[in-house]
Amino acid sequence: MKLAGKKFVVVGGGGLIGSHTVDLLCKEDISEVIVYDNFFRGSEENLANALKDPRVKICDFGGDILHSDILNDVFAGIDGVFHFAALWLLQCHEYPRSAFDVNIRGTFNVMEACVKQSVARLVYSSSASVYGDALHEPMKEDHPYNNKNFYGATKIAGEAMLNAFHHRYGLNYVGLRYMNVYGPRQDYHGAYIAVIMKMLDAIDQGESPTIFGDGSEAFDFVAVEDCAYANICAMKADVVNKNYNVGTGFRTSLKELAEKLIQLTGTDLPIQFAPRSQATLVRNRIGDPTLAEKDIGYQAQIDLEVGLRGLISWRKNHKEEVAARRRAAGITD
Ligand SMILES: NC(=O)c1ccc[n+]([C@@H]2O[C@H](COP(=O)([O-])OP(=O)(O)OC[C@H]3O[C@@H](n4cnc5c(N)ncnc54)[C@H](O)[C@@H]3O)[C@@H](O)[C@H]2O)c1
Repeated sequence: MKLAGKKFVVVGGGGLIGSHTVDLLCKEDISEVIVYDNFFRGSEENLANALKDPRVKICDFGGDILHSDILNDVFAGIDGVFHFAALWLLQCHEYPRSAFDVNIRGTFNVMEACVKQSVARLVYSSSASVYGDALHEPMKEDHPYNNKNFYGATKIAGEAMLNAFHHRYGLNYVGLRYMNVYGPRQDYHGAYIAVIMKMLDAIDQGESPTIFGDGSEAFDFVAVEDCAYANICAMKADVVNKNYNVGTGFRTSLKELAEKLIQLTGTDLPIQFAPRSQATLVRNRIGDPTLAEKDIGYQAQIDLEVGLRGLISWRKNHKEEVAARRRAAGITD
């Protein structure tokens, strides 16, 4: 889809990837962006820059995807929808029924409203969690669904439902399976990624970053700005009814990550290893991004060092916000 002159709704646009996508949309010649978010996790601070642009508005009806009639009204006259709203992994683990309500029923509402209002294209946020623990690396899109938790189950359900909506009603969509997303505006709720914030907190206090276990778990850490870029690529592309990996294709162990943070912060603290306090959900996950490059033109632009520098500098310039996110996650200093 050509973006010029078009109107978009960003569902869950107050969150991490959504707010960066709104920022990128503002660089395009679009006519309007409506953020539809109940701010259960995201925040207006995330949109502080974007809201200076008169084309960006926050939906003033509360913005909950469980309110299907409101969703339906807001999607009237909209050309494209980005759908980011979801409960996060650990919350789905604790509250499976809420996970079902928001991530499956809410996502169904988004699809249904797209069909009712003839929205030309939907970009869905799936997740690398659909793969579970990697059976082989790097994972291509045909890697089996090896997921064992409720969060991954909701994302698989979303993908399956989209496929059905496409075949039954012709819904034009693309799904994106993000790997482990980090960057400015991240909070402490992520199951794998919050470790970066906690290590940086420790380093800021002159303490060693702690790794629970031996640090050999390895992930594909992808910068949030690259994920936002993947969303724009996906909205512009012609391909339909497919899901793509959004990552870098590079593997980084937690030990390598800690070493990189120590190096980038200019400290010489040793890493502290502690016994694993809880079962690890996933030990390895690296996604092959070549299909996304071929079909939607996405290629990660930001390497880990550059991305982590961006996060470190955001933390330095947003100390109050970081402290508020720490409190919101129940972390006491
Ligand atoms: N961050 C990651 O590492 C990662 C990895 C894979 C997939 N994803 C998926 O990508 C999407 C965006 O992730 P994120 O990290 O930006 O998450 P996020 O939690 O920062 O953003 C999600 C937004 O959805 C909103 N929301 C929650 N429930 C809602 C509801 N009922 N109605 C309306 N809005 C609601 C939240 O307030 C939040 O602003 C999610 O679907 C997530 O599952 C994220």
